[in-house]
Amino acid sequence: MNWRENPNGFQSVLVTGGAGYVGSALIPQLLSDGYDVKVIDLFWFGDDVFGESHKHPRLRLARLDIRNTEQLKRELKGTDVIIHLACISNDPSFELDPNLSKSINYDAFVGLLSGAIESGVRRFIYASSSSIYGVKEEKDVREDSPPFPLTDYSKYKLACERQLLDVNPRGIERVIARPATVCGYARRLRLDLTVNILTMHALVNRKIRVFGGKQLRPNLQIADMVRAYETLLSAPAEKIDGQAFNIGYQNRSVEELALLVRETIGDPGIAIEHVPTDDGRSYHINSDKIGAVLGFKPEHTIEDAVRDLAEKYRAGSIPDPMTDRRYYNIRTMQALKFI
Ligand SMILES: NC(=O)c1ccc[n+]([C@@H]2O[C@H](COP(=O)([O-])OP(=O)(O)OC[C@H]3O[C@@H](n4cnc5c(N)ncnc54)[C@H](O)[C@@H]3O)[C@@H](O)[C@H]2O)c1
Repeated sequence: MNWRENPNGFQSVLVTGGAGYVGSALIPQLLSDGYDVKVIDLFWFGDDVFGESHKHPRLRLARLDIRNTEQLKRELKGTDVIIHLACISNDPSFELDPNLSKSINYDAFVGLLSGAIESGVRRFIYASSSSIYGVKEEKDVREDSPPFPLTDYSKYKLACERQLLDVNPRGIERVIARPATVCGYARRLRLDLTVNILTMHALVNRKIRVFGGKQLRPNLQIADMVRAYETLLSAPAEKIDGQAFNIGYQNRSVEELALLVRETIGDPGIAIEHVPTDDGRSYHINSDKIGAVLGFKPEHTIEDAVRDLAEKYRAGSIPDPMTDRRYYNIRTMQALKFI
C-alpha cells in the first residue's frame, strides 16, 4: 500500500537489520510504496543488496551497531515506525558466542525500545519467530498457545516479546510478527533455511540430505513476508497494538519438503538421503488470526519459492551457492570473527 493511503499517516520507516535476507526484499518494496526508509545495519552480508533501489533518494543507509544506544537514539529522530529485524538470526550462529548473541538479540532490544519511546516513534514492529513454540504435538498452534522455546535464539525472541508487551510503553503501538521459516529468492540470499537449502542441493548435487525428516515446519514465501510487514504498517492501531500474529502456511514435514522440492524441480533422479538429527523443533502453526483481523492471506507457495530459486540459479544469479559464505550466516559470522 502506498504510504499516502496509509491511514496512520506514517511516512518514515526505520528498519534495523534491513540489509539481511528479509530486508533485501522488504526495503525496495517500502521505497516503491513511497516511504522514507532508513536502514540501520552492520552490513555483514554486504550493502549492495537492494539492486536498483540502492541509490534511491528516499533510502538512507547507516552503518551502526544496534548496541550503540546513544548513536541509535540520534538516528531514531523523526522515525514514525521501526521494523526491528536485526539479530543473530539462527540457532547455530547464536551458539557461536552466546554472550555476544544475547547482547544483540536481547540487551540491544531493550535499548532500542526505550530509545524509540523517548524519540516519539509511533509504532514498533518486532520480528519474532514461530520457533518460540518449540515442540508441539497439537495441530494448529495459535498465538495463545503456551510458548516452549527450545534454544537460546528462541528464548530471547520470546524475552523480547515479553519486554515489548509487559513493559507497557505508553504512547507506542507494539506488534509482534511470528513468521515461519522464510523461503524463496532475495538479493541477499540465505541458503541456511530449510526450503532454500533443500532446493539448492537438489539443483547442484542432485542429492538432498534430510536431517530427521518427521519434524513439522511451517513456511512463508518471502514476498508474503514482505506483504505481511506492509500489512502491519498500515493496520489500524486498535487491531494490532499488543498483538502477536503467526505468519506461516503449508505446514510440512522436512521429508515432505524434500519430496516437494524434487517434484517441483521435475527431476526424479534427485536422490533423497536420510541423516539422523537431534534438532527436535516441530510445530504446526495456524495463521488464521492475521487473516481474520487484518485480511492477510498468502499469495505465494513453497512451490513458487522453489521454482524461482531454480530459475535464478539456472540464470546464474546465485553464483557459488555451496562455497560463498555470505549465503550461510554461521560461516559469515565465523569469518568476520564477530566484528
Ligand atoms: N528468515 C527467516 O526464515 C525468519 C523466520 C522467522 C523470523 N525471522 C526473523 O526476521 C529477522 C530477519 O531475518 P533475516 O533472515 O533477514 O536475517 P539475516 O541474518 O539475513 O539479517 C540480519 C541482519 O541484521 C544485521 N545485524 C546483525 N547484528 C546487528 C547489529 N548488532 N547491529 C546492526 N545490524 C545487525 C546483519 O548485518 C544482517 O544484515 C530476524 O530477526 C529473524 O530472527 C526470520
